[in-house]
Amino acid sequence: MTRAYSISGEDVDAERARVDQNLDQVDISRVVVLDEIELRTTGPRDVRMKILAVSAEHNLAHAALADTVHISELRGGKIYPGNSALGEVTEVGSEVTDFSVGDIAITHCNGQPDRFGFPKTIWAYDTPDSIGWYAEEVVVEDWQIVQAPLDCGLNLWEIAALPLRAPTAYHLWRRAEGIFRLKVPEERCATLNVMGFGGGVSELFLMMAAAKGHNAYFCSGSKERRDALEKFGIIPIDQKVYNRFASRDDSKAFMKEIKRLTGGEGMHLICDMLRGPVFDAGFSAVAREGVIVSAGWQLTREVKFNSAAASIKQITLDHTHYETLYGVGAATELYGSVYKPTIHHEIYPFEDLPRAIVDMQENTQTGIPIIRVAEEMPEAVSHLIP
Ligand SMILES: NC(=O)c1ccc[n+]([C@@H]2O[C@H](COP(=O)([O-])OP(=O)(O)OC[C@H]3O[C@@H](n4cnc5c(N)ncnc54)[C@H](OP(=O)(O)O)[C@@H]3O)[C@@H](O)[C@H]2O)c1
Repeated sequence: MTRAYSISGEDVDAERARVDQNLDQVDISRVVVLDEIELRTTGPRDVRMKILAVSAEHNLAHAALADTVHISELRGGKIYPGNSALGEVTEVGSEVTDFSVGDIAITHCNGQPDRFGFPKTIWAYDTPDSIGWYAEEVVVEDWQIVQAPLDCGLNLWEIAALPLRAPTAYHLWRRAEGIFRLKVPEERCATLNVMGFGGGVSELFLMMAAAKGHNAYFCSGSKERRDALEKFGIIPIDQKVYNRFASRDDSKAFMKEIKRLTGGEGMHLICDMLRGPVFDAGFSAVAREGVIVSAGWQLTREVKFNSAAASIKQITLDHTHYETLYGVGAATELYGSVYKPTIHHEIYPFEDLPRAIVDMQENTQTGIPIIRVAEEMPEAVSHLIP
């Protein structure tokens, strides 16, 4: 038996009933509970891992709130969540060739690639029978892990922040850039204006833009996160100055600032993982031929836009979902050289994972939240612990 977090459909329903279906009042820590699970014995293509650290991800909040789909119910009453982790290989099956005992590996969450490699489902969310990595130990098939780039210059917590967010950002970037370049070749517009709204994925997207010499703008309500990105030459825009686009006047003032910052051009590429009022702000800030990419719907799932205006301005809205396995490998190559994530100042103990999710939901964290799972760390990573 190993300790692992779970979310049960019954607990979700009971908590939603307790707060009269007001999702703003749901206490996620009553739904995400420390449980136990019996791991399967290690098969020929399996790898057993001791989890060292994980990063908290929003899909846990989606699962606990049942605000997108009631995933724990759909999965038969219970899920074991967690799709971003770093661990030590402790056992390998007889047919495993790419990993050995003692290796440090990171996970990816492409749960079921379609014939072009894109995920049909996400591991530990909607992939049938998948057991997540918010656990002390796991058994997974070897295709689900990647060697951790321990020499990339990042510390252990920074590496643990990236397994889900970096491939997502990488995929968003190649889609946004590729679509824009279909319309406007480099010799017509070499330097792009690129904007991302708050959040770890957007931050990494902007790091890609800055690394390629583009003008990158980070529109966030968090001073700590804006300051962290400014150190990489990414220009901050304080979203709270525009009251997170609450009124028409706020949006007009934001538009005026975007025009000022970009000499009237607007943003060629925009990453919006949030939707809601953020979508409208992005739609008004986008340049002609611009591309707005998203893989998230943190604030709302539905968006409404003026299709005629989008056509006339040649705007493309693109929807993505994580990466292919090749893309995961490519994103991992950029750890430390391009991706230098900001980490929340507190590293949470394993027992406090629900508190990390609550803090994430309340938007009080100063960077990506990391949970230390293993008390004792292997020698191979001891020099990477700050
Ligand atoms: N489909 C996929 O493959 C995929 C992969 C990763 C993530 N996602 C989804 O994408 C979303 C973002 O993920 P993430 O990991 O980038 O997020 P994150 O690092 O946890 O950051 C979330 C951000 O949301 C912003 N925020 C919170 N409340 C807000 C509000 N009321 N108005 C405007 N901004 C608000 C905050 O930005 P401020 O700095 O402005 O406060 C915060 O930094 C989540 O819904 C997640 O599930 C999807």
